[in-house]
Amino acid sequence: MELKHLPTPALVVDEEIFLKNEAAMAALLKGGSLRLRPHFKSHKCAAIAHRQIQSGAIGMTCAKLDEAIDLAESGIEDILIANQITDREKISRLAHLARACRLTVCVDDEENARALEEAAAFAGATVHCLVEYEIGMQRCGLSDMGAVVALAKYVDGCAHLVFDGIQAYAGHISHVVSQKEREDLTAANEEKIRTLLSLLAAEGLAVRTLSGGSTGTARIKKEAGLYTELQAGSYLFMDATYGELALPFESSLFVLATVVSVREGLAVVDAGVKSCGVDQGMPRPLGFSVSEVVASEEHFQLHNPSKQLSVGDRVLLVPAHCCSTVNLHENLYFVRDGKVTDRIPVTARGCFR
Ligand SMILES: Cc1ncc(COP(=O)(O)O)c(C=O)c1O
Repeated sequence: MELKHLPTPALVVDEEIFLKNEAAMAALLKGGSLRLRPHFKSHKCAAIAHRQIQSGAIGMTCAKLDEAIDLAESGIEDILIANQITDREKISRLAHLARACRLTVCVDDEENARALEEAAAFAGATVHCLVEYEIGMQRCGLSDMGAVVALAKYVDGCAHLVFDGIQAYAGHISHVVSQKEREDLTAANEEKIRTLLSLLAAEGLAVRTLSGGSTGTARIKKEAGLYTELQAGSYLFMDATYGELALPFESSLFVLATVVSVREGLAVVDAGVKSCGVDQGMPRPLGFSVSEVVASEEHFQLHNPSKQLSVGDRVLLVPAHCCSTVNLHENLYFVRDGKVTDRIPVTARGCFR
């Protein structure tokens, strides 16, 4: 099928650019000790996760228990839930899942660790844990180093938990446009982490894993050589927000839309917030400019397009955020030379629990 025959809105991936992005990440990491543990939330496709593992990723990162279940059921054997799972019912499901794969979860609370230990004992499972260090994003984790060491000790003493190391994710740095500023902020964070690692070592706690990083900090993390795992997710698809940074990746993901109405200085397309994530801003049309994009549920209004558009024309929109856009679609359509080459199900679509 040709791209122009796909019903819209549709989520399309330029296969050539996707493959280039994949190769660019492999080239970036080559020769270093930083291993790729890509974040599943950016594509949510089990088939792409398997591709990433086959090309050398050590396992997958995900945000949610249901994403971990989707990955495990598809045959992925090493999964990190880069979040805290605190609900009793979910902890019990997590412990059972840990019998079927190597499962790691983040902890930042002793009560939570105790509940994980009890559930793992009941399930006859081993649950791997990363103690989360809050490194400035003001999200989860412990910001006090003494508290990190105390929790690591506690986890280390649990018979059914394994203290693997630390997660320190500095998401607030990922999209800083200036490379120099990203480098300086990352270096300052890594200084703190070195202090934390020496405190843990002084207590005899071995840190095998230091996990974090993103598409925006991949090169910096690789060059610094401190982290063991990189959780980058967006690098395969990219988006308009990451497009502001000088990174070796290009946008491969687009929302294909049809122009449904045209007036003087305005073209309206049949894609809106129900098919394109706007949490990081409005999408940008590919190949022409507009003065403003206004969103509603099923429409984007493209104001003052630099190109003459007519009803029925197809446009490609670069989403501002790939992760929230993927989550809205059942399928990704891979395209090459204007033709659909594959349709890949978004297996973890809507897995937000
Ligand atoms: C825990 C965690 N790790 C890594 C990432 C990196 O993702 P990306 O490379 O898409 O910026 C994210 C993104 O939000 C995240 O929440």
